[in-house]
Amino acid sequence: MERRKFIRALAGTAAFTSTGAGLLFSACGKGPLEDKIGESFAGYPHDPVRAENFTNPLFIPGGEGPFGVLSVTDAPLTLAAQAKTFPILDGRASPFLLYDTSYAGKSYQNPILRVKSGSRFTATLQNGLNEPTIIHWHGLHLPANMDGHPNDSIAPGKNYPYTFPVTNRGGTYWYHTHAHELTAEQAYGGLASFFIIEDDDELRLVSALDLKLGETDIPLVIQDKRFNATGELVYQPGMMEKMMGYLGDIVLVNLTPNPYLEIGSRIYRFRCLNGSNARVYKLAFMRGNEKMAYQVIGTDGGLLDRPYPATEVFLAPAERLDVLFDASQLRQGETVFLKSLAFDPMEQDGMGGMGGMGGMGGQGNSQLGQMGDNTRLANGLEFNLLKLVVAKAAQGPREIPASLSTLAPLDTAGISPRRVTLSLNHMQWQINGQSYRRDAATFEVKRAVEVWNIENATNSMIHPMHLHGFSFQVLGRTNSPAALRPLATASGGRVVTDLGWKDTVMVWPGETVRIAIDFRQALPGEQLYLFHCHNLEHEDGNMMVNYRIPA
Ligand code: C2O
Ligand code: CU
Ligand code: CU
Repeated sequence: MERRKFIRALAGTAAFTSTGAGLLFSACGKGPLEDKIGESFAGYPHDPVRAENFTNPLFIPGGEGPFGVLSVTDAPLTLAAQAKTFPILDGRASPFLLYDTSYAGKSYQNPILRVKSGSRFTATLQNGLNEPTIIHWHGLHLPANMDGHPNDSIAPGKNYPYTFPVTNRGGTYWYHTHAHELTAEQAYGGLASFFIIEDDDELRLVSALDLKLGETDIPLVIQDKRFNATGELVYQPGMMEKMMGYLGDIVLVNLTPNPYLEIGSRIYRFRCLNGSNARVYKLAFMRGNEKMAYQVIGTDGGLLDRPYPATEVFLAPAERLDVLFDASQLRQGETVFLKSLAFDPMEQDGMGGMGGMGGMGGQGNSQLGQMGDNTRLANGLEFNLLKLVVAKAAQGPREIPASLSTLAPLDTAGISPRRVTLSLNHMQWQINGQSYRRDAATFEVKRAVEVWNIENATNSMIHPMHLHGFSFQVLGRTNSPAALRPLATASGGRVVTDLGWKDTVMVWPGETVRIAIDFRQALPGEQLYLFHCHNLEHEDGNMMVNYRIPA
């Protein structure tokens, strides 16, 4: 709470660096931040720290409409990216970007696509925005020309055709815009949703626990955002926020501020997606002050081999966490909060270590405030995400399957690792000493199993590093900070989210994370894919490289 008050005090005095904001937010592009938030939300009614604020029913996806579950058949899909409005804060229409579609007689916005593994997916993106865009299918194994590379961004009015076989395992994937240098603003503005793949392992779990998507199997997308006095989304990163990432002070789950969900006394599945630009969450289910155990069953690339009990798990931008929560142990009327617990993101420690920042070095958090990081909710503060209320008795299977799937560890014996460094140079986050170059590959990989040692030498920020084209396995972590070490329950200093297939991995300040990737699965012909930080301000700030797979 101390730091929170401190940041709040700073927010009142800080000079806000206004920068040009594009398509969605141009109407808000004036004046200091406190004009936009401080006045109309004096008292901060959507403050997620205060439990009593949690009075809004959680938005649950239905069978059509916004975020409706769309079961994709053979028929092609058209996704029209459009600037529309969407009621978010207290039902007030906010400018919002969404993918609009009609399919089998129903209409959807940002549909949750539900696709069978092994099927063919065919869709056309229509760009109805007034700036370039492209869709990236996050986590899918696709040929480079289907992957939504920023070089494939299409101009307003143009179409991009996608058609590919869905070869991934079952799991919780997602899709979002990947427009060159516009990803952060467009994704924050709304262009993102789930891509759920089903396979036999999934079906087995669903039938063993009698789960229903949208009832007892609930996708939760967690996003922190800022709003102006009229309840419209604000995206206006200052110079420091471009550097550190843009944080909001209103935390939305399924676009609902301060949500609650009535549940029955049975097992629920929650598929959490961190769809935030930059915030890291430490997820725990709290019954009063008691951390309840939950079962982690899946990560970015689908189910784990078995359920792993946990009480707290970090989730960085773009990562997914699939959990089972057993409410049969609770009494009717009891409440439990899904929370993000306090942790030290090590950001202010790093300020002194940011060699490239010249005169700002060592001045710490006060500079951070003055440079535009005005959020009332600093990264690492504790707050509530979702209130669960046991509202009814419910019958359901009690027995969680002992085994969920099979995961074969990649054989990495004798492989010498590729060194991948994350660094900061003249206020630019870099990978292997380079900023993004659209038409050049920073390195070429072998069509073999590779081991990458990702070294976070920036010493000041967590970087969630994301690989396009392939899932990978985490082999180990060294030099993990104190915040992470207690959660390292598996060999090699690994945490529970390291135990499944991944496409995004958190690399903490000072840490080295070793991953293994099987490039033998690569598709024929030369392929150019991205590797980047999924802090979206870092991504747009060119903390991204192309890597090439030779023909
Ligand atoms: Cu989810 Cu390259 O991104
Ligand atoms: Cu991706
Ligand atoms: Cu980063």
